[in-house]
Amino acid sequence: MKKLLAVFLILSSVLVMSCQNSSTEKPNPPAAQAIQLVEVRDVHSFANPAQVRVKHVDLNLDVLFDRKVLKGSATLTIERKQADANELKLDTRDLKVSKAETSSDGNNFAATKFALGQADKILGTPLTVELPAQATKVRIEYETSPTASGVQWLQPAQTAGKQYPYVFTQSQSIHARSWIPLQDSPGVRVTYSATIRTPSGIRAVMSAEEIDGAPKLGEFSFNMRQPIPSYLIALAAGDIAFKSLGKRTGVYTEPAMMDKAAKELEDTEKMIEATETLYGPYRWGRYDILVLPPSFPYGGMENPRLTFATPTILAGDKSLVSLIAHELAHSWSGNLVTNATWRDFWLNEGFTTYLERRIVEAVYGRDTEEMQAVLGRQTLEALLTKFDPRDQILHVDLDGRDPDDGSTEVPYEKGALLLRYLEETVGRDKFDQFLKGYFDSFAFQSIATADFRAYLQKNLLDANPQLSAKISSDVLDEWIEKPGLPASTPKPQSNAFTNVEAQAKAWLAGKPAASLDTKAWTTQEWLHFFQRLPAKLSEPQMKDLDQAFGLTNSGNAEIAHVWLLISIRNNYATAYPRLEEYLTTIGRQKLIKPLYEELVKTPAGKQRAKAIFAKARAGYHPIAQTSVGKIVNG
Ligand code: BES
Ligand code: ZN
Repeated sequence: MKKLLAVFLILSSVLVMSCQNSSTEKPNPPAAQAIQLVEVRDVHSFANPAQVRVKHVDLNLDVLFDRKVLKGSATLTIERKQADANELKLDTRDLKVSKAETSSDGNNFAATKFALGQADKILGTPLTVELPAQATKVRIEYETSPTASGVQWLQPAQTAGKQYPYVFTQSQSIHARSWIPLQDSPGVRVTYSATIRTPSGIRAVMSAEEIDGAPKLGEFSFNMRQPIPSYLIALAAGDIAFKSLGKRTGVYTEPAMMDKAAKELEDTEKMIEATETLYGPYRWGRYDILVLPPSFPYGGMENPRLTFATPTILAGDKSLVSLIAHELAHSWSGNLVTNATWRDFWLNEGFTTYLERRIVEAVYGRDTEEMQAVLGRQTLEALLTKFDPRDQILHVDLDGRDPDDGSTEVPYEKGALLLRYLEETVGRDKFDQFLKGYFDSFAFQSIATADFRAYLQKNLLDANPQLSAKISSDVLDEWIEKPGLPASTPKPQSNAFTNVEAQAKAWLAGKPAASLDTKAWTTQEWLHFFQRLPAKLSEPQMKDLDQAFGLTNSGNAEIAHVWLLISIRNNYATAYPRLEEYLTTIGRQKLIKPLYEELVKTPAGKQRAKAIFAKARAGYHPIAQTSVGKIVNG
């Protein structure tokens, strides 16, 4: 019996060791030859990483639903870059800081002086902590504000189950500072650990590995051992269940949402395999997806190991799962190789949109991919006609502006078109190899636009005179530093859309909607159909479409979105109750902001917008409250 136990112990420890050593769980070694990166200043942070750099963040937080507060401490492990540095500068926003302590051995902490500076509307408030010469750790005791810009607190009524409250964070771009005092710059990478305490019945999840066997009920421990930028630190807590989808993937969501979510997301493992084939191993261990309540202000957020996603992608036919391809792609473009500052954001989103399309092509075929690429270019071009030239630039100057304002179709779609242009010019095989090398070379680093250009030059162009003549630095300047789209911009082409266009034409010529050939149309085909219609439609035309396709009551959030937009434009009153229901349940900004923008174009619409916003506001995320508030009141 003893012998058996010993064998078991040895076996299990070998198992544990081999798990720990598996390539997916350990931090990757730095690239063989470290590439010298350019130094760039982050205008969106008060921190002083060039003097003292935070390397690890250890959180110890209580989730206090009744006060809408996270309360506890953040212990920061620091590294001196300048030996005589005697203060640590951190970013905060609306934090109540009660104490700062330092330690030189990690065990004994002594109080130190700290000061909160002048608050800036965009950047928040700098926190300066005095550092004794030997200090290696800094512990800040603090609590968040109930209106923290990076935290949304939900009433039970805003959840699917209606029983428990819910809370989630959204740190990108500069909102981590509203719930953690830290160096909130994408150029500063940290590992992190956390202990989170919640009321009974509430599970906490984070963008990190969960250390299981929680010793106490309601206490959750996490560890992220790969260095990540602060905007990827994330927490959610609520009545959250889990279901496995594959060997390293699964879905977290409220129990009432589970079956629908698990079915829709069943191809996730296939997507990971497709991406690994193209761009090298997935380096984060598990890839799980948290499907949030509908007030989540974004479509998705690539929090490492745990993508946060809106439930509005659950269309029932997988036609919106390209969003998962997108967030998964960030595990290479963004989380592995990160923009050093927010003006380099296109390195995150342009690359990711390009990767997203390649994953969709690999898993669902070229036709599906091209539909999405065509829609992407259409949306971009429509936007460019309205945009200030300086906002059409990939390497955009965001000094003095909120980095969230830089999150437009330009970094996404223009960035993806640049990569597609490079692919088409260089050839797919060669370009794939190049990208794989790029992700390897810069893995776990934060890089600037100039670093990408230098790498491209050295690894793709220098050795090939023909290519460097075509992809000259003038051409690259035109793409990266100038407004508009170059003449060489690739033109995606979709055969499926040819039929959609024919149907739109036939209907406009008088063919009844019910007799159109719309069988098995995906979301993208519907979106394209609506794009082909003129802005003004008559009441009978609206009725004809609505009665044939049940558009007002569509459960597909994207289709409902365009239909409601058209309804507002054409004053189609039948859709107004649905419009109100839509705007008071969904908080995804991409879906609600254009509806408010359309409403405020007429005096009657503006009144309606104000009335709906008054009801909806409390249910929106702080970021959406502000952005919609500007539309309705501005
Ligand atoms: N990282 C972004 C979301 C984001 C960007 C949040 C900037 C805050 C500031 C995420 O990867 C994303 O791009 N989401 C898109 C979906 C995607 C399929 C285009 C979204 O939320 O709509
Ligand atoms: Zn993205």
